[in-house]
Amino acid sequence: MKWKILSMLTLAVFFGLYACGGQESAEEADTTDEAPASMVEDEPEASPFGVGPIQEEIVLPDEIDQALVEKGKEIYKARCAACHNPEQDAIGPSQKGIFERRNPTWVMNMILNPEGMIKEDPVAKELFQKYNKVAMTNMGLTQDDARAVMEYIRTF
Ligand code: HEC
Repeated sequence: MKWKILSMLTLAVFFGLYACGGQESAEEADTTDEAPASMVEDEPEASPFGVGPIQEEIVLPDEIDQALVEKGKEIYKARCAACHNPEQDAIGPSQKGIFERRNPTWVMNMILNPEGMIKEDPVAKELFQKYNKVAMTNMGLTQDDARAVMEYIRTF
């Protein structure tokens, strides 16, 4: 019986010292000039352009190209309208006013590489959660077709 109490005491002292030791080293760490580990381990900042084939910034001309809009409208109706509605959120979000929220390069990458985007881009990841984890389908558009669709989206 006696040894049991003794060994419990020893354990208590041991853990007591252990806890103090931990605290001391934490205090020591606070006084160093090094950045806290949590900052060092942060992921590299995500590109504002997202992930995908377009890595050079696309700058949209002020004027809307009507011929391109017409081409984009046909593609949008055939390939996008099942999940998107210009006026309101559907299976996917409405793209109305999207260029106030996102840059054109990001939008192009979302159209051309949705699977990569919802895996790696923080904004697309959030959208994926918000839209019930329905993954946008890669519709296999060419860059020219995607650009035309984007011109149509500008008219929403
Ligand atoms: C199978 C349904 C589906 C199809 C088809 C689809 N999308 Fe999506 N789209 C989504 C969903 C859902 C999201 C939200 C992200 C996610 O969950 O993958 C999304 C997100 C987007 C976004 C980002 C919206 C924002 O607010 O940032 C754009 C841009 C977009 N889609 C464009 C298109 C275009 C253009 C097409 C046609 C070429 C298309 N999508 C086809 C379902 C779809």
